Amino acid sequence: MNVETEPKQKKVSLKGRHLLTWKDYDREEIVYLLERALEMKEQPLSEALAQKTLAMIFEKSSTRTRVSFEVGMTQLGGKAIHLNSRDMQLGRGETISDTSEVLSRYVNGIMIRTDSHQKLEELASNGNVPVINGLCDIYHPCQALADMMTIYEQKGRFAGVKLVYTGDGNNVAHSLMIIGAVLGLDVVIASPNGYEPLDFVIRDAERLAAENGGSLQVTSDIQAAVNEADVLYTDVWTSMGQEAEEQERKKALAPYQINQGLLEQAKSDVSVLHCLPAHRGEEITAEVIDGESSVVFDQAENRLHVQKAIMEALL
Ligand code: CP
Ligand code: NVA
Repeated sequence: MNVETEPKQKKVSLKGRHLLTWKDYDREEIVYLLERALEMKEQPLSEALAQKTLAMIFEKSSTRTRVSFEVGMTQLGGKAIHLNSRDMQLGRGETISDTSEVLSRYVNGIMIRTDSHQKLEELASNGNVPVINGLCDIYHPCQALADMMTIYEQKGRFAGVKLVYTGDGNNVAHSLMIIGAVLGLDVVIASPNGYEPLDFVIRDAERLAAENGGSLQVTSDIQAAVNEADVLYTDVWTSMGQEAEEQERKKALAPYQINQGLLEQAKSDVSVLHCLPAHRGEEITAEVIDGESSVVFDQAENRLHVQKAIMEALL
């Protein structure tokens, strides 16, 4: 992979690590996972996780995350168990720490999609198997790794790539900011007032960008932001759990839509990404998401490859 990394000092070993946020990983480790994901895309089947089991706890809906983790375990010779938190004792008040202790006695890893990042940290600190964040209120790291793989496939590099995320400064934006900073991209987040990324994530991403040769800009000026963009990215305006705010969000975020007019202000070979599910006519027009610049289905496919690389390395 054509990424400016220090000469390899150590063999990358991620066995037993949690993946809650990319803040905990360095560039060499992330590049290692991306390289494995690219290899696995070519050679999908192995027995690397034969006899191993992944518990997948869902407290929110999912199509891609659920199916790609489950298929990924199958392709690596292991098995994934889908657990809906409402059907678990967790839904009746059993604590996260007890759940974590117990699951650790049965399975080799836990993937969880939940509302609070704190729950993830609790799960990670109480069990003794790797915990993988399948989306929380602050981060969506597996998505961001697939996004970086897709950007690499499109652009062949990270350094100097201008990635413009427009819309709600949410979990998807946060993970892009962090991983983009570690990999040395020039990340621009264009959000209206009141919908900016969280301050502490901005500070973390700024520090990581300075350490790794990338940059981060947060602005409300979408027109200036989109100029010379290599990649344009957006996500839903109303994330899971924010349904009560839908009408006000639609109003505030409307100027941040990715449409043909905006696309034409970016570079002519701009790639359009969206983590999906998409709402055509809201954050992105049908013309753009179904048009030639869009790589959203490659991006969705890459969830499978990167998560296999993550599971192989951590489990
Ligand atoms: N992008 C993403 O995480 O999709 P799902 O909500 O369908 O898992
Ligand atoms: N920001 C969205 C991402 C969905 C994959 C949400 O949290 O609902």
